[in-house]
Amino acid sequence: MISIFEDPAAVAAAAALRFARAARDAVARQGRFVVALPGGSTPRLLHRALAERTGLPWSATLFLFGDERCVPPDDEQSNYRMARETLFEPLRIAPGQLLRLHGEAADPAQAASEYEQALRALFPGAAAPRIDLLLLGMGEDGHTASLFPGTAALDETRRWVTTNYVPRLAEWRLTLTLPALCAAREILFLVTGASKARVAAEAFGGRPHEVQHPAERVVPPDGTREILLDRAAAQLL
Ligand code: 6PG
Repeated sequence: MISIFEDPAAVAAAAALRFARAARDAVARQGRFVVALPGGSTPRLLHRALAERTGLPWSATLFLFGDERCVPPDDEQSNYRMARETLFEPLRIAPGQLLRLHGEAADPAQAASEYEQALRALFPGAAAPRIDLLLLGMGEDGHTASLFPGTAALDETRRWVTTNYVPRLAEWRLTLTLPALCAAREILFLVTGASKARVAAEAFGGRPHEVQHPAERVVPPDGTREILLDRAAAQLL
């Protein structure tokens, strides 16, 4: 489903509404709410909107990350740092409620393996992690999480978490894989800005294009997916 809003603030407000509903439903259903946060800059407005919602079941919420840069947690490039500053600190989220991808690890493969073990402990016996709400962004090249076009992680069909070398950025990333992302109960893409218009029209609007975008491949067989866009990003849909 595609939903278009006036501007990034309206996208964030709509996402916060969906977040609140998903949180309340999950806690009522299973006593906890497992949410995976996206990286990048788009989620900042959402985090700010959520930080004002003190009435949500925050103490029953477990925060995962869809991906992380291979940097220390206090690095300005760290997805964790952005979430800590805009969401965890304002809401006083306890450290035990966070599952952080250790981007600082000397051995990223070990960090990926440890994250996968922690995920499997959260979802014992599951074939894939049934994240209640997966929030994702999309890059201008159609990447999502750290699944970039033409990179090896796109071909991972067994692991839930892996490393991924991104030649265009000349850097390593840690990322959930397609099997893990697609297992989510509910997926929300947040896409804003004119720079995303072409790729949004291709990935979500059926505009012809040669190579399938990674974001296009994140479709939950047993869940829902909604794309929240502002008018600028939706202008070619
Ligand atoms: C990351 C993100 C990535 C992000 C897109 C969009 O670590 O960079 O996980 O997938 O969602 O690059 O980023 P913006 O929101 O900054 O446009």
